[in-house]
Amino acid sequence: MAKQLTQKVSWVGKIDWELKHFHGDELSTHRGSSYNSYLIRDEKVALIDTVWQPYDREFVSRLKQEIDLAKIDYIIMNHNEIDHSGALPELMRQIPDTPIYCTKKGEAIIRGHYHQDWNFVNVKTGDTLSLGETTLTFVEMTMMHWPDSMLTYMDTDGGIMFSNDAFGQHYATESLYNDAVCEAEMMYEAEKYYANILNPFNAMVSKKIPQIEAMNLPITLICPSHGVIWKNNPAQIIEKYKQWSAAYQEDQVTIVYDTMWQSTRKMAEAICDGIREASPTTTVKVLNINRDDKNDVLTEMWRSKAVLVGSPTINNGHSFAIAGLLEMAAGLKFKNKQAAAFGSYGWGGGSVKQISAKLEEAGFTLVNEGLAKLWVPDQTALDDCRAYGRDFANAL
Ligand code: FEO
Repeated sequence: MAKQLTQKVSWVGKIDWELKHFHGDELSTHRGSSYNSYLIRDEKVALIDTVWQPYDREFVSRLKQEIDLAKIDYIIMNHNEIDHSGALPELMRQIPDTPIYCTKKGEAIIRGHYHQDWNFVNVKTGDTLSLGETTLTFVEMTMMHWPDSMLTYMDTDGGIMFSNDAFGQHYATESLYNDAVCEAEMMYEAEKYYANILNPFNAMVSKKIPQIEAMNLPITLICPSHGVIWKNNPAQIIEKYKQWSAAYQEDQVTIVYDTMWQSTRKMAEAICDGIREASPTTTVKVLNINRDDKNDVLTEMWRSKAVLVGSPTINNGHSFAIAGLLEMAAGLKFKNKQAAAFGSYGWGGGSVKQISAKLEEAGFTLVNEGLAKLWVPDQTALDDCRAYGRDFANAL
């Protein structure tokens, strides 16, 4: 069902309460998501973005209940990953000549996905489109987070920014607005979204946000393509993006480990005790990579000033779950974070050295050579782990 946002704008998207994984299984979405699509009615009518492919028929059918499709003059595609462009083929079957406004890269992506020769109009930063009283202005948001990304600004109804993925959260809610949901859970989802999707593009975010601010646009709503609309103090999420894109960290250490027979877990907990002894105000999180969700773990690593990664030695290597985590961490390009490795071993050892090398390759600064303990740690070994934790905290 469409929801009226302002005099001219309706939300016509899809709330996906079922979505628990995104990008295949790369990203967990415990709280679902939404694919926000917006309809602007002025003398001319513009539709901004569509929804994910499985909901294409439902989307078009509900859109028809809201408006005669022939009355849509323009389709604006801010970004063309399939969660936003997926309903285009179904829609274009019904209104095949309607122009699609997107960046040049956007056209290439749509063509690459759907292999159709639709009526594309390429736009770049500063280009405008008049709907009558309303003027839409386009701003390229290259690599926030795909090459085609852009935002569309509408200058009526107090000023509305349609930012697509930027400023979004994978968060299903019927309540629409940021001041109508649990702030803590919504902000956690905004952080997780940034850490797991946008962090690799920090440099672009840091460059783009001041450009947007310099435009001095009045903004009453920021309407992203996922999650809530920023209505109460919309500038707050822009401010957060400035902080998050600047090698963000809190006074937190995350210890993440895998364990076969609890030895590496015991080491993790003793190291935690040592860190807390040396630095009682530092938040320390101790997470088993096989018990906690990988993307939640990565979010905690993103928040941290330092991480400790532990695995027992298995077949002369380290565990597959820790290997997967380190691969993901490398892709997310964390900056300004210190790290070290630890783990138990039986005869040959090797995991600590391998994890240290991978941490370094992923951009972490190694605090030391790590800590390995033979078999099940006894009291002496656990005392060593505590001492190691103290030294680690003191070195940060
Ligand atoms: Fe929400 Fe980059 O797609």
